[in-house]
Amino acid sequence: MKPRILVAREVFPEVIDRLQEHFEVDDNQADLVLGGEGLKARLADKAGALTAATDPVTAEVIAAAPGLKAICNFAVGYNNIDLAACTRAGVVATNTPGVLDDTTADLAWALLMATARRLPAAERWLRNGEWKGWQFIQWLGSDIHHATLGILGMGRIGQAVARRGAGFEMKVIYHNRTRLPADKEAACRARWVDKDTLLREADFLVLVLPYSPATHHIIGAAELALMKPTAHLINIARGGIVDDEALISALRQRRLSGAGLDVFEGEPKFNPGFLELDNVALAPHIGSSSRATRMAMAMTAADNLIAALSGQRPPNLLNPDAWR
Ligand code: GLV
Repeated sequence: MKPRILVAREVFPEVIDRLQEHFEVDDNQADLVLGGEGLKARLADKAGALTAATDPVTAEVIAAAPGLKAICNFAVGYNNIDLAACTRAGVVATNTPGVLDDTTADLAWALLMATARRLPAAERWLRNGEWKGWQFIQWLGSDIHHATLGILGMGRIGQAVARRGAGFEMKVIYHNRTRLPADKEAACRARWVDKDTLLREADFLVLVLPYSPATHHIIGAAELALMKPTAHLINIARGGIVDDEALISALRQRRLSGAGLDVFEGEPKFNPGFLELDNVALAPHIGSSSRATRMAMAMTAADNLIAALSGQRPPNLLNPDAWR
């Protein structure tokens, strides 16, 4: 008999077809958000699952699934998974690094350019019929070219954001716990600086850190106060890395020029204060959302699950201790 698996959110039919070659699939093509209780119920009789960043794979969920062997996230971030609990239960966990780097870096740039040139507010103004005539001094934005691009978190996505800075002849600085090897720094034309220098010097600060208790509110009131009032903050990482209340206050008081945000604390709910600001570009967590990339992510997760349940080490294993 084929192992039973759960696909916790809607995916492309091609992915379900591929999984059905190997497994008995319980899908969720209606795309209900299962939540902890729903996951517990649906995972109880499963050997594995494809999960999204919205699926809380907690210790309780894992304990309720005695036959569970693999949790394969179709996301690069995996803060929705209690990795320690997985390891204790001998459940392997995987993510989808690599396939989404360029698409997510592109979105960082879309937000960067939108906030720099005030596109969302200008478009709202145009749509509202407020454009009565062209003026020389109208909708003045910030220059991107030759500005300083700062990147906090210099993994694969951070490096992809940095490389794009060359096209705008930007000065690129970054901060990361570990410094990149010289060849990678050269490929990104980026210079390592300490965190305070990054905050003080960046004209555009892009956050590309994984979320963990250690990065919770790593950008709060004190950090925002170090930034230039002309600077823009871009968050394509995770809600909770930025203290949204402190950010709203800085943007409202123009202690910060603008922000481009793809992620929010408590999303899909978010602080309504953002809606009152005209100096933000907001997106509903769509960093990796191109058709090709979302397909690649789902297929990567499927590959991981097929490997894990057929006794092969999954390519994107997060907890090698569970494999041993
Ligand atoms: C999306 O947010 C991801 O982590 O892939």
